[in-house]
Amino acid sequence: MASAPGRVNLIGEHTDYNGGFVLPCAIDRRIAAAVGTGEGVLYSADFEETRQIDEEDSSWADYPRGIVWAMGEAGHEIGTFRAAFAGDVPLGSGLSSSAAIEAATALALDAFYGLGIRHTDLAVICQRAENDYVGVGSGIMDQYASLLCEAGAALLVDCRSLEAKSVPLDLQAAGLSLVVCDTRIERGLADTGYNDRRATCERAASMLGVEELRDATEEDLGLLSGAELKRARHVVSENARVLEAVEALESRDFDEFGRLMYASHASLRNNYEVSTPELDTFVEAAKGHGARGARLTGAGFGGCAIALVPEGETAELRNACEQAFEGRGFEEPAFYEFVPAPGAEVATGIEE
Ligand code: GLA
Repeated sequence: MASAPGRVNLIGEHTDYNGGFVLPCAIDRRIAAAVGTGEGVLYSADFEETRQIDEEDSSWADYPRGIVWAMGEAGHEIGTFRAAFAGDVPLGSGLSSSAAIEAATALALDAFYGLGIRHTDLAVICQRAENDYVGVGSGIMDQYASLLCEAGAALLVDCRSLEAKSVPLDLQAAGLSLVVCDTRIERGLADTGYNDRRATCERAASMLGVEELRDATEEDLGLLSGAELKRARHVVSENARVLEAVEALESRDFDEFGRLMYASHASLRNNYEVSTPELDTFVEAAKGHGARGARLTGAGFGGCAIALVPEGETAELRNACEQAFEGRGFEEPAFYEFVPAPGAEVATGIEE
């Protein structure tokens, strides 16, 4: 049995598939996968249903199916097995429930068959499942976060070299809480403008004659116009912000870190155009109620936003946000407070 967490991204949005930098942290919400000998049956305790492994039906079961397929593609033939899943990562909220079920499945199968695959390689297998089996052209961030994060830390990932390093994120010592606002606008990435944004970035890179937008500079932007200019402007500035944010965290400068979060949100709203009125309303409420920083997290188009709020002031922000949402006729939001949690782990010491 293995379990794997969801994640929030602190900064570095829509940079992973452009070969850039991201800074997510795992959250203390997980999905567990239990694997045993049996005949190709997948059971979800959360959906209270059983599905067959050798079908394809656009349900939750496509994630474990995709993992079996991607492991085979990577040269690890998986025999017949049965598996069961249970978890508490909010689904379809942009907290990477899909990466969590992928990572938990991959690690549980790795342990069950004694394959000894490194976590970094498991992350690549999980991304392959998501890209080529489920059909979402996502980057590597969520799978890396779910498999490689450490407790009390964020994870800086260079999405080109796939090198990653932990960056201490001691929120408690800084007297801060990580508040997450779930706008309850559920979406699967396949239904959003995600793949379209990615295609525009690829066009912008080829217009500039660079391999990926990671290689573009501020000066290059002058050669672009229209949607390509706006998307590239976001990616170039966001990559720079991630590296500055890591420096800020390393020197425990949460004022600077927060400033970068607000700047990231503004760029996602104005340049990348993936924010929504709900996400903007939360960020505004956060700004007005003492948050050091706030921004949408994940792909956007709904889902969640985060704020770093002084401990003890979170209730005030929640109330202000609830009122603002009600006033504008939005769905009632949900709130969570997470602590930076460990990545995927094989469960040990389970008694019969
Ligand atoms: C989703 C994708 C990630 C990343 C983010 C945007 O979470 O799965 O790979 O592209 O969107 O930063």
